[in-house]
Amino acid sequence: MAPAIPRILVRLSGFGTLVGGIIVFKEYLGGANYSGTENLKGKTVIVTGANTGIGLETARDMARRGAKVILACRNMEKCKKARQDIALETRNKHIYCRECDLASQDSIRNFAKMVNESEPSVDILINNAGVMRCKYQTTKEGIELQLGTNHMGHFLLTNLLLDKIKESAPSRIVNVSSVAHLRGKIHFEDLNSVKKYDEGEAYAQSKLANILFTHELAQRLEGKGVTVNAVHPGLVNTELGRHMGFYNSIIATIFVQPLLWIFLKTPTKGAQTTIYAALSPELENVSGKYYSNQLETEVSEAALDAEAAKRLWMTSERWTKLNQNNH
Ligand SMILES: *[C@@H]1O[C@H](CO)[C@@H](O)[C@H](O)[C@H]1NC(C)=O
Ligand SMILES: *[C@@H]1O[C@H](CO)[C@@H](O)[C@H](O)[C@H]1NC(C)=O
Ligand SMILES: *[C@@H]1O[C@H](CO)[C@@H](O)[C@H](O)[C@H]1NC(C)=O
Ligand SMILES: *[C@@H]1O[C@H](CO)[C@@H](O)[C@H](O)[C@H]1NC(C)=O
Repeated sequence: MAPAIPRILVRLSGFGTLVGGIIVFKEYLGGANYSGTENLKGKTVIVTGANTGIGLETARDMARRGAKVILACRNMEKCKKARQDIALETRNKHIYCRECDLASQDSIRNFAKMVNESEPSVDILINNAGVMRCKYQTTKEGIELQLGTNHMGHFLLTNLLLDKIKESAPSRIVNVSSVAHLRGKIHFEDLNSVKKYDEGEAYAQSKLANILFTHELAQRLEGKGVTVNAVHPGLVNTELGRHMGFYNSIIATIFVQPLLWIFLKTPTKGAQTTIYAALSPELENVSGKYYSNQLETEVSEAALDAEAAKRLWMTSERWTKLNQNNH
């Protein structure tokens, strides 16, 4: 007679199978890893917001491939930690921390000047940094923080580095947008959310602005050997949620977060579409497109509005004083 398997073991193994199943399911939901094996020796990559989440994982991947990676961050303490973490793991010594606070145009100008003067090339620029659903705050210049950081800051940075990026052609720009753009509207009559501020709407507006810019810039860069595409990283478990009150409440911590954990991507998974857009040979000649899960994806109708893209570009030039005192 076979010895009876103690019931507790059966229960435990059932539990183990369930946990294993959930982990496999989560891995499946997270989407495939980017499979390309491109080597980036001799290339320079800039990643904004590289000290945490998707930015950190994107930078780590670029470092593994041998690139010189510039971590453009606001918080230098965290940036140095990230640098150390990446350098130790990848044994790549060419990882640099540089201060770039996207909520300060002076900081962006200093960063761009430094890069422009000291880097022989900028082959890949990844506009990743972002703030999400925060209380009403403004940048140093008084621009609502989500529009100011997610859109205006990167607008300025990209334009200031554009000569260098063009010189480095073939080169690529990747803008991390979001599916949230689908709900976005550009409120030209109150772009800065002075009359009315809704944190979700302002976030969606800033992410729609990313896509409009990707389109306008792609047009401006046609034939220059520089491509610019936007990506949606997926719903990722990152610090972006740090401003979301409910998410951090006790109830959400106990009941909602564990459930969400199954559906939220890890930052590594969230980085895959960015990496795909930055490296895939398939996209060598592709510009002005939007990708999710490494597939070209349709954008909202509002994101196809070429008039709005031009108008936003001109407004952004004014708000960032782009054509004055650049240098
Ligand atoms: C994808 O990459 C992650 C991190 O490197 C790894 O843990 C995971 O097993 C990979 N998944 C697949 C399906 O290869
Ligand atoms: C994305 O598109 C262009 C080029 O990268 C840039 O001008 C625009 O500001 C970017 N938006 C962001 C912040 O991703
Ligand atoms: C970068 O340097 C080039 C010359 O190599 C110059 O034309 C350009 O204006 C500079 N841009 C910035 C932002 O300093
Ligand atoms: C991109 O364009 C170049 C020049 O026209 C061509 O040689 C190359 O095969 C194209 N690449 C892809 C992936 O279509």
